[in-house]
Amino acid sequence: MQKLAIQGGYRLSGEVRISGAKNAALPIMCASLLTAGELQLGNLPDMHDVATMVRLLEQMGVRVDRTLQAATFNAAQVDQLVAPYDMVKTMRAAILVLGPLLTRFGEARVSLPGGCAIGTRPVDLHIKGLIAMGAEIHIEHGYIHATARRLHGAHICFDMISVTGTENLMMAAVLADGITVLENAAREPEVVDLAICLIAMGAKIEGAGSDKITIEGVGTLHGANHAVMPDRIESGTFLVAAAAAGGHVTLTHTRADILDSVLDKLREAGAKIDVNGDRIALEMSARPRAVNVRTAPYPAFPTDMQAQFMALNAIADGSAIVVETIFENRFMHVQELQRLGAKIEIEGNTAVIQGCRQLDAATVMATDLRASASLVIAGMVAQGETIIDRIYHLDRGYEHIEAKLSALGAKIRRIN
Ligand code: UD1
Repeated sequence: MQKLAIQGGYRLSGEVRISGAKNAALPIMCASLLTAGELQLGNLPDMHDVATMVRLLEQMGVRVDRTLQAATFNAAQVDQLVAPYDMVKTMRAAILVLGPLLTRFGEARVSLPGGCAIGTRPVDLHIKGLIAMGAEIHIEHGYIHATARRLHGAHICFDMISVTGTENLMMAAVLADGITVLENAAREPEVVDLAICLIAMGAKIEGAGSDKITIEGVGTLHGANHAVMPDRIESGTFLVAAAAAGGHVTLTHTRADILDSVLDKLREAGAKIDVNGDRIALEMSARPRAVNVRTAPYPAFPTDMQAQFMALNAIADGSAIVVETIFENRFMHVQELQRLGAKIEIEGNTAVIQGCRQLDAATVMATDLRASASLVIAGMVAQGETIIDRIYHLDRGYEHIEAKLSALGAKIRRIN
């Protein structure tokens, strides 16, 4: 199993190119199932989840022609309407094939995702929405078996905000009969990027980016060309790394307008931030100040940045409170940060962090994707060599993270 070895204590400087967003690429790849035409995607990140999604789509009969950062998808000859357990369990986003398969082919069998490290994460809202659109759904042998002659429009109000739930129902609705209204919809920029791609494919969608999305079903969709938006979580992760380690880093090919809550917190921590077009520069010359964080759906502070700010707070001046409101078990990184000497106490969904000047290197274990990122950041500011085990989590959702950090001056290497 591969590990990362990080020698702490080096400042970061230089430029780093931000990759396409994992959480936009995955739903958009599933959108290829909605048409017999060719969907050409650019700015696709090179990471395990994208490779897993390619394999899943290929198993279904989609022809995928991939170069490093682009791919063409052709779903003219889909013959397997199944997403098997071994794929869904490693990548929950595989649930996003459910809506497209059902609405175009009238049937889908998708494994229930089951539990994951950060909580129970049910998919009841996806299922309820599809039933409201006329689907018949049975849970059999751990699989969601959905059928429908043709889905029809419906007025659906989400009980709670779900990103992939919104995306799944939006994709189902584009080929349904009549008008679907999604209320209390997720406003995440990745939902908007998916809508932009669907509209380019001929879908009629209004309101993406607001909490009310209206979709008028059409008979068929056609192929299109779409460039995946930049990854705001990768952007945030590099900015926090630079704020924690100190230095001067510039992100290129990114977007500041979708990072407001994160940039505000970094400024509060003492970072100087300059935005210029698709570039964000961060300069940090002093020890960061502790900052309170409360996660909530977009545009509030993202849960996917919570762990990284925990690492920042661990070495900050002062104490901070971090409240996680989205996932009930997303503090798995805390135990590992404690092994590096971080002073963190947890009470329910709240963590209280007392910043200390110095962390001490240790061997730690990555537990989920963003937890891994927080350990990388902590390793970069710890004294000595930190070893991070189980980095396959990191490889799922970050493109060449150690190469990018090394180019900025971090002392980080992969070991077998
Ligand atoms: C997406 C992101 C993930 C991010 C999360 C929250 C992708 C591929 N993943 O995950 O990186 O951390 O949004 O921003 O885009 N819930 C239910 N029933 C449902 C669906 C969700 O109770 O049917 C609950 C979840 O357990 C959670 C909350 O709703 O407590 C939000 O989850 P959701 O937005 O659906 O997360 P994902 O879409 O899985």
